[in-house]
Amino acid sequence: MTDFTIQPCQPGDSHYQAVRDLVESLGQTEYFTYDADWHLDTHILIAVASGRAVGFLNFAIQEIGTDCNRPGMTLQGEILREAYVLAFGVAEDHRRHGVGSELQNELIRLATTLGCHQVRSRSAGNRLANHALKVSLGFGVHPTKANDDAVFFVLPLPKHPDPNAVR
Ligand SMILES: CC(C)(COP(=O)(O)OP(=O)(O)OC[C@H]1O[C@@H](n2cnc3c(N)ncnc32)[C@H](O)[C@@H]1OP(=O)(O)O)[C@@H](O)C(=O)NCCC(=O)NCCS
Repeated sequence: MTDFTIQPCQPGDSHYQAVRDLVESLGQTEYFTYDADWHLDTHILIAVASGRAVGFLNFAIQEIGTDCNRPGMTLQGEILREAYVLAFGVAEDHRRHGVGSELQNELIRLATTLGCHQVRSRSAGNRLANHALKVSLGFGVHPTKANDDAVFFVLPLPKHPDPNAVR
């Protein structure tokens, strides 16, 4: 296993098309490209090994509750935001080498810097590797009453000194 780096990515970057191909090969294009009115901003993180994109994670910044058709949550006048993961995957030949964990760790670092209250994601019930990874990183598990076996994973974040860092 070669070393890898985690870096931001945007449309037009040299790795972008390869990332989209990887997303497509893992069946996540629908989630990766999901665009909603309540998204305040979106970010893409990728893992690169030997010049090749081998992992991705994209997430939206949103006010907590707005994706559930609720008013954004406020506490003592402060709007609570979250980083919500849209798509997340690692190339099959690079799994179990810490790539997924490092993508999540960079998400947690960035979301904290951006003043988010929590990181959250939804996962289908058959994504057992993802479930194991999230639990290993300390995420809480929130089952749903929806008519499927999906669960949500939520991780509260330490308070960042500059909540206005959110764009
Ligand atoms: C979920 C996924 C991103 C994990 O990526 P990864 O780079 O292999 O994960 P890591 O190497 O960082 O694993 C960290 C820990 O998670 C757990 N884990 C990861 N894969 C696992 C598996 N297949 N079985 C059991 N535990 C697993 C282990 O505790 C692992 O630590 P260890 O290897 O020291 O035992 C990858 O399996 C994947 O792309 N799956 C398909 C897409 C997917 O399910 N995406 C998520 C939601 S849509």
